Amino acid sequence: MATVIETIQAPQVQHTECFIGGKWLPAASGKTFATINPATEETIAEVAEGDQADIDLAVDAARKAFDQGPWGRMDARDRGRLMYRLADLIEEEIDELAALESFDNGKPVSVARAADLPLVIDCLRYYAGFADKIHGSTIPVRGNYFTYTRKEPVGVAGQIIPWNFPMLMTAWKWGPALAAGCTIVMKPAEQTPLTCLRMAQLAQDAGIPDGVINVVPGYGPTAGGALVKHPGVDKIAFTGEDRTAKIIMRNAADSLKRLTFELGGKSPNVILADADLDAAAAGAHFGLFFNQGQCCCAGSRVFVDERVHDEFVDKLKDLATNRKLGNPLCQDTEQGPQIDQAQFDKILSYIDKGNAEGARCVVGGKRFGDKGYFIEQTIFDGVTDDMAIAQDEIFGPVMSVLKYKDWDELIDRANQTFYGLAAAVWTSNVGKAHDFARRVRAGTIWVNCYDVFDAAAPFGGFKMSGQGRELGEEGLRAYSETKTVTINLS
Ligand code: NAI
Ligand code: MG
Repeated sequence: MATVIETIQAPQVQHTECFIGGKWLPAASGKTFATINPATEETIAEVAEGDQADIDLAVDAARKAFDQGPWGRMDARDRGRLMYRLADLIEEEIDELAALESFDNGKPVSVARAADLPLVIDCLRYYAGFADKIHGSTIPVRGNYFTYTRKEPVGVAGQIIPWNFPMLMTAWKWGPALAAGCTIVMKPAEQTPLTCLRMAQLAQDAGIPDGVINVVPGYGPTAGGALVKHPGVDKIAFTGEDRTAKIIMRNAADSLKRLTFELGGKSPNVILADADLDAAAAGAHFGLFFNQGQCCCAGSRVFVDERVHDEFVDKLKDLATNRKLGNPLCQDTEQGPQIDQAQFDKILSYIDKGNAEGARCVVGGKRFGDKGYFIEQTIFDGVTDDMAIAQDEIFGPVMSVLKYKDWDELIDRANQTFYGLAAAVWTSNVGKAHDFARRVRAGTIWVNCYDVFDAAAPFGGFKMSGQGRELGEEGLRAYSETKTVTINLS
């Protein structure tokens, strides 16, 4: 029997309201919605259902904090200090936050504790250090003028995030925005509002002034839509589905907002015959099944050199068979439930399509258990490029294995997708690795590794996988305007 981690059986839900101007407020409409534990399908808490009225209040608070308030005027180094303090408070509460994330999202608590939380803390510290290192340049122009540039915050940032990494997406959005000097109105995903709300309280406890961070939980078309259309919002940063991004782009047109998008993918993970096949199999397994397959950069198309295909599929099958599904609160659980009924239904429908289109299901293929949104770790072999499971983002624990023979043809096939978020190659041939890195059109290339993230390394998509980059120094661009100042010296 696996041990359930004692202390986290009933995490405290402390915040369920909108956080606006430093105050906890019910939705103006009085409405609430249930947030569900995906492992049990039971309601954890009722949460304020924000919409237009609450977004209006939150934008007013963020505008005030930016235009008149302390944030815009505070010395950059002091802003950074408050961000470090927020990271420290999160670190002090790391176990409780990991538990809350696991409850609301379904991810194994041990994974939240070992992966999500350390990345959250690291991201905030990385950007805290940037706060006083954002500077312009002096520019040699013709004539007797002195010209320099200033990097100024873009203003009020509207941030809309998904449910797959609720706290980490919050950190990825808050970090660069705060460092750049922006104020924030965030709408967390309706599936997972709880940890973002807790982080808002910790930000206040850290001393970040009221109105700098505002959080309005609610649904996409209502709360999210109001944020996107609001004329007082200067910029929208969105992570989620490409279909939603298109709606956001249209809705943001009237106010010509700055937009950054981090969207989906159908990332190729390519196994050459000369690779360390055990390491490659472990990497392919992790690259797809991590986070229940709910990763924008999931390596969902595994291309294998036909000479090693059978041996490699055996290895993949062994790894998947031994993967531990179950209670996210058990210490050794590797895979929890999918986020909700809609994702659960979508994934099972893709498994049906895979079977109907003639792919061979090697392992899994069904629901797991009879309670919670669990789906077995599933591998399809014999997948061809035209099948739906090779083209669409499934966002679940479903791996497609495709064979390849010729290198140039492989590169073409790897690129035959509307997406371009990530790609990986496993090989001992350094020339092939660089050739792959140059020719595959994707924002991130991993060589002999997968899902290696660092706050300093830019992340984002080519093609329909996104616009702009998050993380690293590049991530600050989305939150900065460049001002050019010219002084007549004669
Ligand atoms: P979604 O894109 O609808 O939701 C993401 C966020 O956008 C949520 O906070 C949602 O409330 C908000 N939103 C939805 N409609 C909006 C609108 N009209 N205006 C403003 N905000 C809006 O994604 P969803 O429905 O949760 O998942 C659907 C599919 O999207 C998944 O199956 C997966 O393929 C993909 N997805 C990709 C993610 C990624 O990290 N790239 C994350 C989540 C989903
Ligand atoms: Mg949606």
